[in-house]
Amino acid sequence: MIVGGEWLGLLSKFVSSLIQRGIRATAARAMMWARIRLLPVLWLREVHAWSTADLAVERPRLLLPGTLSVVRGDLAHLPLLGSLDAVALPEAAARLARGAQLWLVLHEGRAVYSGWVFHGQAPTVAARTGWLHLPPRVANPEDMVTAPDYRGRGLASAMYTRIFDDLEERNLADRVVGKVPLGNTANRRALIKSGWREFAHVELLRIGPWRRIRVHPVSADRSLTQLFEWLSTELASHVGVAMSRSVPAPEKP
Ligand SMILES: CC(C)(COP(=O)(O)OP(=O)(O)OC[C@H]1O[C@@H](n2cnc3c(N)ncnc32)[C@H](O)[C@@H]1OP(=O)(O)O)[C@@H](O)C(=O)NCCC(=O)NCCS
Repeated sequence: MIVGGEWLGLLSKFVSSLIQRGIRATAARAMMWARIRLLPVLWLREVHAWSTADLAVERPRLLLPGTLSVVRGDLAHLPLLGSLDAVALPEAAARLARGAQLWLVLHEGRAVYSGWVFHGQAPTVAARTGWLHLPPRVANPEDMVTAPDYRGRGLASAMYTRIFDDLEERNLADRVVGKVPLGNTANRRALIKSGWREFAHVELLRIGPWRRIRVHPVSADRSLTQLFEWLSTELASHVGVAMSRSVPAPEKP
């Protein structure tokens, strides 16, 4: 959302760009800005795959390469996030303040992975407030990022094992839930390798202030029905949700 003061700043940037670059280059930059900043405000369609893992059942035990070290991050670690395409520092500080856990993998003094674990509430674009209430003893790992030059070495998958172990050891949760854009094959594969199972696909269509959400079950497993009901009910408390009861054929990421 662009707020009042920002428009003035944009206007002055526009004028100085006109002076420095001329009409053509400024128009091209303005179009690019509108595509990136304005279009998602006016029109947004997203499909997320929601997955879960039961921490009590047997799950894959994936290990990080021994040369990497894992830390639970605090305020002092936030500058390290600058080397990753992770959340902005004010947002990271706000997350720590509301009790989210930050996980970092360090190598040669640099963060090569970061990930978050939320308790109580999960950040969710589909929710009007931006947050969904989590069921008791269910945690929400989110926003995992591996540095591009460290991808494909099993960091994200092994960090899920590490995070699950920590939640279990400190008795913080019995289960995790999380979402990933349907097109994010890399993260969906990391989830499957580390023992997650998909239970719903959530389609959000937003046109200006109007929004529609569709929730589809993607597992015939009855033990996941309760989670599907929780997700549908939570989303319905934000907006009218069309729930589909049919289970489509499983789709491989
Ligand atoms: C998703 C992400 C965190 C996975 O991290 P990772 O440490 O590379 O994960 P893993 O090594 O455990 O590999 C998981 C999958 O990534 C894919 N992958 C492998 N090498 C890759 C590479 N060089 N580049 C991108 N993806 C690769 C593979 O599909 C792999 O699964 P497979 O081994 O079964 O084929 C990482 O790709 C990333 O940071 N992406 C950008 C941010 C993002 O999308 N985060 C998720 C938000 S929901």
